[in-house]
Amino acid sequence: MNNFEKMTEQELIEYIKKIKQKYAGKIAIPAHHYENSNIVELADVIGDSYKLAVECAKLEAEFVVFCGVRFMAEGSAVLAGEGQKVIHPDVTAGCPMADMIDEDSAREAYELILKLSGKKIAPVVYMNSYVDIKAFCGEHGGTVCTSSNAKKIVKYYLDQGFSVFFSPDNNLGINTARELGITDNEVVRIKRDLTISGNPATAKMFLWDGFCHVHQRFTTEDVENLRAKYPGIKLIVHPECTEEVVNAADISGSTQKIFNEVTNSADDVIWGIGTEMNFVQRLADDNPNKIIVPLRESYCFNMAKINLKNLAESLEIIDKHYSEGAGLKNEVTVDSKYKQNAKIALHKMIEIVES
Ligand code: 13P
Ligand code: SF4
Repeated sequence: MNNFEKMTEQELIEYIKKIKQKYAGKIAIPAHHYENSNIVELADVIGDSYKLAVECAKLEAEFVVFCGVRFMAEGSAVLAGEGQKVIHPDVTAGCPMADMIDEDSAREAYELILKLSGKKIAPVVYMNSYVDIKAFCGEHGGTVCTSSNAKKIVKYYLDQGFSVFFSPDNNLGINTARELGITDNEVVRIKRDLTISGNPATAKMFLWDGFCHVHQRFTTEDVENLRAKYPGIKLIVHPECTEEVVNAADISGSTQKIFNEVTNSADDVIWGIGTEMNFVQRLADDNPNKIIVPLRESYCFNMAKINLKNLAESLEIIDKHYSEGAGLKNEVTVDSKYKQNAKIALHKMIEIVES
């Protein structure tokens, strides 16, 4: 066994590259944009949660070593091909928002709003959720969405006369509702204790009350401060920010949209970015000719749990597995009772988006 604890950053990088080369085609490393730069630089696929879901479904490597949080690795395991294994370098890298709803709460809320509204309701869950609730959506004719496609997915159901039960992110839900012109009396909010505010009879969207603490922290005061400090600044924020912050910004969009807008802009644009700080820092490093500042420094510590050391450990285990038949560690498995319906929900998302 290597002593990764004692290795320098450079030695760890060299080890990871060596194992990747040794098993070229057999190991793939996808990484979310929020990962540290040293991880992103070693990745084979980099993207937001939608891009990663689509790209991972196409991977042929036997091992997918997923650098992101658990719900993303789990999504990749749901879409994995026969015999393909997903390894998560740190299984404690979770997402507090994904913990804010589970199958039982979703079922109770869904049954309650069906009864109160008398409407056809499609459950749509944000990718930032676990397999039980994705399966619940698949089982009830609903689907999954990500921040890059929430508007298209919700519209798809509204156009067919459904109202949408949207969970867990309240902010993405309300920001999507506003983009679709949905008014206050067409929105119902559901708290985790199942208390409801709003009129179910007129509701087009029923919103769960989850949130991301990383994005919830941005305030309109942050926006005012940045506009005062950098006159002419262009503000782009993630739709997990509050409705007030999204309204105060110039643009909102998924991580990939933020990446594209900033990367493709003219050099003289001053960017203020309201999203995860590791990602903002990398954008600033990769675009030295542009002024890029965070709306506030807000980190996702879960994403940052994936590091060179635990990535190297994961690759060493795969190496030992191939060379000595050793057992695996940190393999992401999906309960068979959820897998099929979760797969249906994820495929439905891809089908709607690609249509
Ligand atoms: P994206 O869908 O933009 O990748 O967002 C994922 C996420 O966890 C943001 O907090
Ligand atoms: Fe979860 Fe927020 Fe981290 Fe995204 S940024 S993984 S929503 S805690």
